[in-house]
Amino acid sequence: MANRLPFQQATVVGAGGCTVVDVPPVLLDRTSPTPLPVQLADALRAATAEGALRPGDRLPSTRELAAALRVSRTVTSAAYDQLLAEGWAGGRRGAGTFVLDAPPAAPAPPSRAVAPDSTAPELIDLRAGSPCLEVLDRTAWRRAWRAAGDGPPDRRPEPAGEPAFRSAVAEHLLRHRGLAAVPADVLATTGTSAAVAEVVSILPRGSRVAVENPGYQRVVGALRDAGAEVVPVPVDSDGLVVDAVPADVAAVYCTPAHQYPLGRRMSAARRLALVARARAEGWWVLEDDYDGELRYDVAPLPLLGALGPDVVVHLGTASKIVSPTLGVGWLVAPPPVRDRLLERRTRTGMRPPRAGQRVLAALATSGDLARHLRRLRRELGTRRELVRAAVAAAGLVAEGDAAGAHVFVPLAGPQEETAVVEAAAAHGVALDGLARHLGAGPDAGVRSGVVLGFAAPPRTELREALIVLTSVLGEQPAETLRARPPREDGPAVPA
Ligand SMILES: Cc1ncc(COP(=O)(O)O)c(C=O)c1O
Repeated sequence: MANRLPFQQATVVGAGGCTVVDVPPVLLDRTSPTPLPVQLADALRAATAEGALRPGDRLPSTRELAAALRVSRTVTSAAYDQLLAEGWAGGRRGAGTFVLDAPPAAPAPPSRAVAPDSTAPELIDLRAGSPCLEVLDRTAWRRAWRAAGDGPPDRRPEPAGEPAFRSAVAEHLLRHRGLAAVPADVLATTGTSAAVAEVVSILPRGSRVAVENPGYQRVVGALRDAGAEVVPVPVDSDGLVVDAVPADVAAVYCTPAHQYPLGRRMSAARRLALVARARAEGWWVLEDDYDGELRYDVAPLPLLGALGPDVVVHLGTASKIVSPTLGVGWLVAPPPVRDRLLERRTRTGMRPPRAGQRVLAALATSGDLARHLRRLRRELGTRRELVRAAVAAAGLVAEGDAAGAHVFVPLAGPQEETAVVEAAAAHGVALDGLARHLGAGPDAGVRSGVVLGFAAPPRTELREALIVLTSVLGEQPAETLRARPPREDGPAVPA
């Protein structure tokens, strides 16, 4: 019978001399009533399903495998014929036999949140933050990983990032974000939170850094961990309240394209005010452009990085448009900041790993990234409308710009927020209350509501979750309806 085994190497003697062959993990039982070709095909199929053999792997020739396994070539040929017929393997003339994708559909990516109790059923995940993997073209993804593995390994890492990655990001910024950067301006990072911590580590220890409140708590954690003192600053419908930033901060972190989590963009007047104060008071502005590529209506406003290239560190990430598992982001910083970051990377041996950079560069240069972004915008734009309709059906309003992958639904107060989150969880849907995005501060707790992410689940699960959502929100007491703020966008709702 076939067993789970590691690959082994065998030396095969042929007419042309000795060849070393990688023998797939196969053990044949000559005493078994199961014919040897069937055992061999079973073993190769199992090795593929378990991942020991991967799509694209070249199988040894029938002659080499027969010699290595000490069976006749009829056995290996019959097994390969079976796998070719089933679609597990494919042949290219003169190039050999290759493992193909397993014919049954590949398992869908996990989209359900793990319930706290592991025996409880999984929840459909409507918390903000995850990317939409449903529209990611798996063939393009595999192609990019293969391309990323081409070429010999390099001896020395590039502290600034892979040249191909930096060029691809410069092009991406120009094309999708209107930021005129050249490759030399771009530094690879391992993502936004890590990049924020890196930038703060070159500020004096204990520096005060202003952050939006409500805001992205992972960045708050990264800042604290890097030794900064976090200063929460309120946000209104124009974005960060620039006048509320105390004078003694060293840096300001914000999400101007799409405030996280309330979903508004920062107004043009606030952008100008922020850059002006940063120049006058010597702050660095950390512009987190985490999902700036995802807008479904008007053109985006100019980036802070374009308005104030001398004071703004512009931060981008692949986490929302592709996947956080790539561990890839980028930054464009004023030259003195960039030089200090590079000096620190060289001094400490810290550098962003190259694999994810190469994959993103391959996706960009093949045109697959641009195609993916078009699909993603279409899909998320449609999903956003479904969410707004589900919220409107409950008599509430989903706030936020036509952008990104989440909306905010205001509720009357913290009790209503908790009630909605708990009722949704009891019906199989994971939601985030606004409380999870609040730090301490003058404005903490003045608003309540739920933040609805719509990228994670497959569309069919999203529809299921929205039925629950309408019913849970619809059970809110009448004060919730009265408490909602004046409508600035969204469909008409009954008074
Ligand atoms: C506001 C915000 N910024 C940045 C990110 C991405 O962070 P990273 O690049 O560290 O994965 C996210 C992801 O959820 C986010 O919500």
